[in-house]
Amino acid sequence: MKINNICCIGAGYVGGPTMSIIAQKNPKIKVHVVDMNANKIAAWNSQNLENLPVYEPGLSNVVKEARGRNLFFSTDINKHIDEADMIFISVNTPTKTSGEGKGYAADLKYVEACAKQIAQVSKTNKIIVEKSTVPVRTSEKIKQILRLNNSDVDFQILSNPEFLAEGTAMRDLEIPDRVLIGGENTNEGKKAIQSLVNIYSAWVPKRNILTTNLWSSELSKLTSNAFLAQRISSINSLSELCEVTGADIEEVSKAIGMDSRIGSSFLKTSVGFGGSCFQKDILNLVYIARSSGLSKVADYWEQILLINKHQRDRFSNKIVECIKNNNLEPNILLLGWAFKKDTNDTRESAAIYVADNLMKNNIRIDIYDPKVNKDQVDFDISYLNENYDKNLIKFIQNPVLNISNYNLIAIMTEWDEFKEYDWQYIYSKIKKPAFIFDGRNILEVEKIKKLGFNYISLGRK
Ligand code: NAD
Ligand code: UGA
Repeated sequence: MKINNICCIGAGYVGGPTMSIIAQKNPKIKVHVVDMNANKIAAWNSQNLENLPVYEPGLSNVVKEARGRNLFFSTDINKHIDEADMIFISVNTPTKTSGEGKGYAADLKYVEACAKQIAQVSKTNKIIVEKSTVPVRTSEKIKQILRLNNSDVDFQILSNPEFLAEGTAMRDLEIPDRVLIGGENTNEGKKAIQSLVNIYSAWVPKRNILTTNLWSSELSKLTSNAFLAQRISSINSLSELCEVTGADIEEVSKAIGMDSRIGSSFLKTSVGFGGSCFQKDILNLVYIARSSGLSKVADYWEQILLINKHQRDRFSNKIVECIKNNNLEPNILLLGWAFKKDTNDTRESAAIYVADNLMKNNIRIDIYDPKVNKDQVDFDISYLNENYDKNLIKFIQNPVLNISNYNLIAIMTEWDEFKEYDWQYIYSKIKKPAFIFDGRNILEVEKIKKLGFNYISLGRK
């Protein structure tokens, strides 16, 4: 089937960048990205490309090239569902907060609402592509909803999970390690798979496009995230062991990673992984395993999350102890709020949990992040603790200018600008004794110590 019109439901961190690249690489295909959030769509249509709702290096150039040519952002969901040959469902799939599976299972209400709306509006055959990360066998559920609400047209369902990481999304989309497409092993299913293969083939080499059955594709996405997060929890657990043995986690990590069977990526110790997906996808995997009667498997994967929380708590405790032991004013500067560098996304950022722990100890916190605004910080803290004491939090624009207010600095996000600060100048102005808590191990230890700072890291002296 030749695809002329694509509709993508969900203009978020995945829908926006992914469709921008598909449109850029397939100029003859019209791509409409739709969302029920009118403010978000207005921001995607903003003339000032600084105002796009997603900050991602390289994104604005692609939007500039394709928007208005064959890439469009709209709130008219029904119209674009109706006109499309292929519809991507790219909506959020958060952890359920109530009902069966509460706290673990993925909430599929947004995916199901899309399926229902597609069924109600469609008058022609369509290929439905699951782009959201979903539990294995969700495509069966989608199919049921589609058939139940519309038996007049044929719907083929594909699973095409997204593997981009925020901050490097454009590069990940441009040169993906693999594009995964799952579909049914029927003639119609194979034709649908081929239609999507053709779209990606506009820029992805054939050898990087992997086709599988639906369930393998769905499960591979969840488990890829679990594997990545597992490496971080493994290295984070060893950072604690380094602290009690005198080994240095950066050296240990390098030595482990040089084994070509292991590889060096995702072995960077941190104050804990954040982001919208690792935690929710592992919780979901744990739920699937447990409800399949595999309690040992569930416990195994759940441990990754327990270590992640432990790492955040360990980091906050170091700060609390330092204030107590040195009898310091309870006031700290947090550098970074985003869950990693080069993104404005703060979902599940370790900084939120550390701030919450510090506030429980009545520590005042000043926050600076190059891409996150005050309202977002307020939203994130309120989400954990509705009645938080607003006097304890201050959002600041220029941390270096106000550096004489502090004894303590904690680096929460590995933004490049923090590495490039004039730390000698900072030391000359900061209150003494001065402490740096390097939650990302980004600073040069010897240099920082030589300046006079007390340097506290995760797993290195
Ligand atoms: P997001 O919250 O940024 O965007 C989802 C968008 O869907 C929102 O703008 C929301 O308004 C919209 N939406 C929800 N229901 C809708 C409906 N019925 N009709 C129209 N619009 C609707 O989420 P995201 O980060 O883009 O993630 C989307 C999915 O992709 C999730 O399943 C996630 O696990 C997966 N994923 C995310 C990433 C990532 O890095 N963020 C990477 C790979 C996969
Ligand atoms: C992750 C995966 O890397 C993507 O492949 C996947 O598509 C995506 O989840 C998803 O499904 O949402 P993302 O969460 O955007 O991408 O970013 P990562 O680069 O994976 O970082 C996640 C967290 O782990 C960040 O807080 C990061 O700082 C932390 N991290 C990463 C470490 O602490 N150490 C590392 O070595 C690597």
